[in-house]
Amino acid sequence: MTAAPSNPAYGALTTEGNSTNIAWHHTSVDRAAWAQQRSHRSAILWFTGLSGAGKSTLANAVNAALFAQGLACYVLDGDNIRHGLCKDLGFSDADREENIRRIGEVAKLFVDAGVVALTAFVSPFKADRDKVRALVPTGDFIEIHCAADLDVCEQRDTKGLYAKARAGQIKEFTGISSPYEAPEAPELRVDTGSQSLEQGVAQVLAYLQAKGIIAAAN
Ligand code: ADX
Repeated sequence: MTAAPSNPAYGALTTEGNSTNIAWHHTSVDRAAWAQQRSHRSAILWFTGLSGAGKSTLANAVNAALFAQGLACYVLDGDNIRHGLCKDLGFSDADREENIRRIGEVAKLFVDAGVVALTAFVSPFKADRDKVRALVPTGDFIEIHCAADLDVCEQRDTKGLYAKARAGQIKEFTGISSPYEAPEAPELRVDTGSQSLEQGVAQVLAYLQAKGIIAAAN
């Protein structure tokens, strides 16, 4: 039997995946300490929806509103993260699963650091989103479905990708040749197809106020 680490800051030796003989090091500043110092809770605001639905736009607008109120917040954006941390991943089902797994773990670190993490990923698969939900305490994963219809997203075609996908130049494109599993019971559904950005932001802020994550409006 392996002896427990003699330093009490460490937990028992354990194995996670291929990582053998690892021990959890208890942090000196925990989430509760950050929450007390910053006077707000942390959480994951998980924006999901088709490409072009307005996830990044809404997440950034909410982020700006939170920043203006003095909160610690950060947007993890699919296209941006694929420039670095996830640039080794493509768009197969398996790669999308790994993409969301990594971002879930990163978002969990942000929650631990007392930061409101806003994530804007297509995240088309329910099972992958549910795994992220299970990473944090109940109530800390707020799923926000940016529910713009495919034809609206395709008409906008902000990056010209739908035209390419229809022409067969992009394989496995979400909504065209790869599925999107819409959330059945998200915490919030924002109609980003027809509502204004201001209405969407107000809807998200009202939810955060109702849940006590941000202070109620005066
Ligand atoms: S996810 O499915 O793995 O969650 P992610 O949000 O990181 O996707 O990246 C989606 C972005 O990558 C889209 O907004 C689009 O700009 C670009 N993209 C390139 N190829 C594809 C594709 N086959 N399917 C969806 N998005 C794609």
